[in-house]
Amino acid sequence: MSKKVLLATEKPFAKSAVEGIKQIFDAAGYELIKLEKYTDKADFLKAVTDVDAMIIRSDKASSEVIAAGSRLKVIVRAGAGFDNIDLSAASAKGICAMNTPGQNSNAVAELAIGMMIYLARNKFTEGNGSELKGKKLGIHAYGNVGKLVAGIARGMGMGIYAFDPFVKAEAMASENVKACSSIEELYSTCDYVSLHIPANEKTKKSINYDLLSKMKKGATLINTARKEVICEEGLKKIMTEREDFKYATDIAPDCHAEIVEKFGLRYHGTKKKMGAETSEANINAGLAAARQIVAFLEKGDRTFQVNK
Ligand code: 3PG
Repeated sequence: MSKKVLLATEKPFAKSAVEGIKQIFDAAGYELIKLEKYTDKADFLKAVTDVDAMIIRSDKASSEVIAAGSRLKVIVRAGAGFDNIDLSAASAKGICAMNTPGQNSNAVAELAIGMMIYLARNKFTEGNGSELKGKKLGIHAYGNVGKLVAGIARGMGMGIYAFDPFVKAEAMASENVKACSSIEELYSTCDYVSLHIPANEKTKKSINYDLLSKMKKGATLINTARKEVICEEGLKKIMTEREDFKYATDIAPDCHAEIVEKFGLRYHGTKKKMGAETSEANINAGLAAARQIVAFLEKGDRTFQVNK
């Protein structure tokens, strides 16, 4: 019996990416089942029942989905953040969960820079804006996306600072990035802070009022990470207290409707997560996911496993 792979993408990949994924599975003799743009979780639960593997984006691989996948051996999140996979449920069933680190990073990095310019220029509407050149950019977590943001921003004449306890100061210095010794130092030094931390038990709601209140006058926070890392009460408080504070986020917080009304040109939130919405990112992440599935099922290759 040929192996079956489910591509479950509520937010579908570009057509060219899906074609590339299909070619990889055709060559391996696998059957590709597509569940794209679905709106009903029941369809996902039904589609996963008899597949050996699945590729997802931000689609939730909950314990319910994992339980429904009785033949499931591997889940690949085509992207970086894997907070949408119930890792303990996967581990309990001996399912290998992977991501595709770095594959969509450039798309996210370009969006972060685009959001900085968008707010700096009053959302391309009235009045004088400001330039990024000469301003200080703080990168909160110097991983795949953070490094790319730093590289683009450096080319635009920004001074680059970063905080990341997992990256040595010397490594940052060799890339012309000044290492901050604390989050507080990063937030109080920079004109822009760009968030690149994952959402986990430690980071959720960690960007709170105390930290935000340390930001400089006229500062802008850019969030292309996860909405869950922001303490929304703290965000609303700082934006209410400080008319100079700006926030752009991919994806809109729960309080979007309330703050879009109140803060107009100082706030922007995307309706759906747009960071990885480029054909290039879809091709990179989608094809990497397909190759990882074949390598796992054929050779037991567990590179990029996240539930070790
Ligand atoms: C990621 O974690 O890779 C990004 O947030 C992109 O997510 P998406 O594939 O759901 O757009």
